[in-house]
Amino acid sequence: MHFTSLILTSLLTFLAPATALPSPEPSEIWQSPYNGALIAPAQDEAIIFGAEFAFEYSISDWCEPGYAPFTVYLTEGVTPPVCANVTADGALADGAFAFSFGKFVVARFGLPQQGVPPPPSLVMPTVEELLVAATTDAKYYLSVVEEFDSCPGHIPVEYGLVSVPISLSIPV
Ligand SMILES: *[C@@H]1O[C@H](CO)[C@@H](O)[C@H](O)[C@H]1NC(C)=O
Repeated sequence: MHFTSLILTSLLTFLAPATALPSPEPSEIWQSPYNGALIAPAQDEAIIFGAEFAFEYSISDWCEPGYAPFTVYLTEGVTPPVCANVTADGALADGAFAFSFGKFVVARFGLPQQGVPPPPSLVMPTVEELLVAATTDAKYYLSVVEEFDSCPGHIPVEYGLVSVPISLSIPV
């Protein structure tokens, strides 16, 4: 059932340019009116490069999805990523993140699990694994892009973006 809706969603996305909806532009990224919440790591939590850290993300259930997919990123920069950095595939744009921890899916209402369930902890990349050069005074955020499929029904997909600043340090 989910598979079918996935195909449908892809098909709709694929067909979107041809259907010529006057508004919005097919390439427009819809921002979800509600966001989930990062419970762990906590704001400004100290984490060491290469070390395991507790992870907990509370999805937003405002549209009662059967499945709640989300992708977790480490971003580098003084400010967190913004909705404009989310691409049409629901990923952060190249250059907008330093590391991707991957995509996880919360199955709800007792539905069978699809994809990878969110783990209780993640492993921070080492400095060598970062896609951007680490500088001593760099600021980092842990960011989550949550995907809301067909929610509301006339919008194929909306995205929510939340970030918490974290304090990353090199192991001594
Ligand atoms: C992220 O979005 C901001 C605001 O639109 C933009 O200035 C910045 O260049 C974007 N970063 C990337 C890597 O796309």
